[in-house]
Amino acid sequence: MTTQILSPAAVREHFPALASCPDVLPDVLLDNAGGSQVPESVARAIADYMRSTYVQLGADYATSRRCTELVARAHAMVRCLMNADGVGEVIFGSSTSALVTMLADCYARAGAGTRDQIIVAQTNHESNAGPWLRLKERGFRTDLWQFDNDAGVCPLDTLQDLLSDRTRIVAVPHVSNLLGGIEDIQAVTRMAHDAGARVVVDGVAFAPHRAIDVQAWGVDWYAYSTYKVYGPHMAALFGTHEAIDELLRPSHDFLARDDVPYAFEIGGANHESCAAVLGLWPYLRVLASENGEDNEPAEFDRSTVDRAFETMIELELPLQRRVINYLRSRGDITIIGPDNAGATRVPTISFVRKGQSSREIAERVCAKGLGIRFGHFYSRRLCQALGLDPADGVVRASMVHYNTTEEINRLIEALEEIMQ
Ligand SMILES: Cc1ncc(COP(=O)(O)O)c(C=O)c1O
Repeated sequence: MTTQILSPAAVREHFPALASCPDVLPDVLLDNAGGSQVPESVARAIADYMRSTYVQLGADYATSRRCTELVARAHAMVRCLMNADGVGEVIFGSSTSALVTMLADCYARAGAGTRDQIIVAQTNHESNAGPWLRLKERGFRTDLWQFDNDAGVCPLDTLQDLLSDRTRIVAVPHVSNLLGGIEDIQAVTRMAHDAGARVVVDGVAFAPHRAIDVQAWGVDWYAYSTYKVYGPHMAALFGTHEAIDELLRPSHDFLARDDVPYAFEIGGANHESCAAVLGLWPYLRVLASENGEDNEPAEFDRSTVDRAFETMIELELPLQRRVINYLRSRGDITIIGPDNAGATRVPTISFVRKGQSSREIAERVCAKGLGIRFGHFYSRRLCQALGLDPADGVVRASMVHYNTTEEINRLIEALEEIMQ
C-alpha cells in the first residue's frame, strides 16, 4: 500500500491545542523537542479512562478486568511501536530519567564483578549520563567517551579504544538533543557486543521523528519518552529478555521473578497514561492512511507504525531544509550539529551567533509569539565540550511533522529582524 501524504492543514486538525493557537500555545510552537502536542484521540482516551475505568487493576470485577486489559494492551502497543515483539519487554516509568536511574541501580545491585567498566558518551542528555557516572560510588570504573569537536561526534575509533573485556555498559544517545544528527547505533551496538558489553540507548530525541526498531539495531536497552511522541507524560524502556534476565527486580521482593515488566515498574505504570498511549494508535492509522473504524485492533500491526513515520518524515524534511538553508545562508551563524539537511538528521536545530547571546535571540523571538528556547537542554557536558557557556548554551528550534512552512517563514522573519 502506498501512503498518501496528508496536508499539514489536515494533520493539524487532529491537534486541538494547535487549532486553538494562540489561546493556549504560542502562535508558533517550535519547542517540540521539549515536548510535543497530543492529538484529540490521546486527550479523549485519558479523559474517557478517568470517567469510565478509573479503578485498581487485578480484581475480578468487570471494570477492574477492563483496566488490567488496557494496561496490558498499552504495553503491547509500545512493543509494536519499538518492534520489540518476540525479543524483549517494554517497561513503563514516569520519565526516561527515572527509568535509566532505575536501570543503573539494578546494575549496581548486580555488582561490579569483573565487568566493572561503564562507558558514557559525552553527547548524552544528563539522564543517560549521571545515573551511570554515579556508579563510580558503587565500585564501577567510569569512562567518558569524549566528543570530537572537529568530527562533530563521539568517534567510533575512540569507543574502540575504550572498550575492553571489562566493559559492562555503553550508554549512548541515538540522537543528541542539541546536535540533531542520527548516530549509527547499529555500529555502536556491534562494537559493544563484540566486547561482551550491553548498550543502553537514549532514543528520546529520535523517537518523535523515526520508527524505533530495536530488532534491526540489536540493542539491549532502549528508552524514549512518550510525552515527546504525541502522547502522555510517561516513558518506556525496552530490554531484551537476556538483558532483563541478568538483573534483580527493583520492585517488591515478594513479586515473582518472571512478573516482567511489572517487577520493574516500581509502584506500577500510570494507568491513565497507558490509556492515553493507546489513544495514539488511531492517529498513527490516520498518518498511515488507513481507513475504517478498527481503532482498537486485536493485534497491533507494525506496518502501521512504519507508514505513519514515513508520512512524518515527508512532512518534516522540507521544514528542516528551509531552516538549515536559511541559517547557512547568513554567514554569521554556527549550526551546532550537522549542517546538511536530510534524512540523516532530525529537525531539532541548534545554533549560536557570534556577538549575540543565545538568551537574547531566544527571548526576542519568543516575544514575537514564537515558542523556541535557549540553554544547555540538560546536555551540559556536551555544551562544555563544544566550548559553549552552558548558562547561555544554544538557540534551539525544534520542529515535528505538524509544523508548517508558514510557521518556519515566521521564524525566519523574526530571526532576520533580531539578528541584524
Ligand atoms: C535526548 C533526551 N534524553 C532524555 C531526556 C529526558 O527525558 P525525560 O524528561 O523523560 O526524563 C530528554 C528530555 O528533554 C532528552 O531530550
